[in-house]
Amino acid sequence: MAVSNEELNRQFEYATRVRQLLLDRTGGKSPKAFTHTYGCQGNVADGEKIDGILSEMGYEFTDDPAEADFILFNTCAVREHAEDRIFGNVGRLKKYKETNPNLIICLCGCMVQQPHIVQRIKDHFRYVDLAFGTHVIYKLPELLYRTLTEEGRVFDISEDNNDIAEDGVIRHNSNIKAFLPVTYGCNNFCTYCVVPYVRGRERSRSYDEVLNEARSLVNQGYKEIMLLGQNVNSYGNDFHEKNLFPKLLRDINDIPGDFLIRFMTSHPKDCSHELLDAMAECEKVERHLHLPVQSGNDRVLKAMNRHYDREHYLELIRYARSIMPDLSITSDIIVGFPGETHEEFLDTISLVKEVGYSALYTFIYSPRVGTKAASLPDPMTRTEKQQWFEELQFAQEQCAAARTEQFRGQVFRVLAEKRNKHGKLEGRTSGNTMIEFDAPDSCLGTFCDVRVTEPLSFVLKGELN
Ligand code: 5AD
Ligand code: SF4
Repeated sequence: MAVSNEELNRQFEYATRVRQLLLDRTGGKSPKAFTHTYGCQGNVADGEKIDGILSEMGYEFTDDPAEADFILFNTCAVREHAEDRIFGNVGRLKKYKETNPNLIICLCGCMVQQPHIVQRIKDHFRYVDLAFGTHVIYKLPELLYRTLTEEGRVFDISEDNNDIAEDGVIRHNSNIKAFLPVTYGCNNFCTYCVVPYVRGRERSRSYDEVLNEARSLVNQGYKEIMLLGQNVNSYGNDFHEKNLFPKLLRDINDIPGDFLIRFMTSHPKDCSHELLDAMAECEKVERHLHLPVQSGNDRVLKAMNRHYDREHYLELIRYARSIMPDLSITSDIIVGFPGETHEEFLDTISLVKEVGYSALYTFIYSPRVGTKAASLPDPMTRTEKQQWFEELQFAQEQCAAARTEQFRGQVFRVLAEKRNKHGKLEGRTSGNTMIEFDAPDSCLGTFCDVRVTEPLSFVLKGELN
């Protein structure tokens, strides 16, 4: 369900009040916000919404936290490492509060949706003024108004609110590529994963809403649309429509204009042949499929509650490649799931070699509070897991290097996305491999033909053709 217009109007009124209040306090100068998002693209899309709301309230943005009136971290809870890093960075914010007592420090996102983390913030990070979870982003104006006008700190960690707030202003991080969320939340409950707990049940945005937003992005000149969901293939399941995502891909593909479409993530259990057929037939959909396998061993896959086996996964890959021979496939893999044996891990290595991934995102298993896997016996040491992790990375690096070597001398049509820190323009091949090349700024946001001169395993170096 969508958040009611009445509620959105109420928030709009709060935004107006906050804007006035801030102007009064700063003597007419625009207040400055420093925001930073951690984690996945879904979180980045939330961050763009948050920035949109802040700009509606009159904030300008700064890259320097020392000159900010408002600092916000949009957090990630997927692994312990992410949480530790974020808490470390929150610790470093204290000094800004000492020099600017009016500074407001805010934490939001997935970490804040966990009760034990909220308790830790309350007890140990007393200079955090405002904290809110993933379900109430649209309420930021009201929450900030309360922070500015009430005594004490404001926490809003409402439990699962299944409403979707449409119509908000979005401040995209790029004017070339845009994220377009199609679903929020996840229903899969993979036993290691905290996402269903912190993001709630899966909800799909309305078909028309998504299609209209895609049209609007193309009209605004965006050259790439990235459709986002934890599991894009179940888009529409909550309004009892099967295979709606392939239809959506086709309809977005039919929007006139020169632009690209990417999407993620596809869960192998519901990656249908219809989806792969739609990919193959839509000329604007790039030839890249992110299909996280997590493990190559059937017992481990079952213990992870993934609902597919190795053979089903490999069948999908075979079908996909039969209709798209140049398809690039990437994956996520977890090493050291509780109880995983070395033989089981070797099944993952052999699957990686069999598939020939263009890139892998590999993670050492990290126990998450409240998940089923966190209560399983986990006898392996961290050192052993680290060794397996390195073995996997080595295997992947060899596959990737062999793959990119084939690209030497080939010409790719690449959307120039940005200038990187080496002073080169950067973009991606259709298969999502990064490529950098020398070119003037006038090429930014345009499609360039780039010849590969030096293929490395993870990035290609090239020159304008
Ligand atoms: N430990 C390690 N990796 C995890 N992922 C999700 N939860 C965990 C966890 N508890 C990985 C999965 C997922 C990716 C986004 O993060 O591989 O696909
Ligand atoms: Fe987590 Fe599994 Fe949902 Fe992905 S599909 S967000 S890994 S529960």
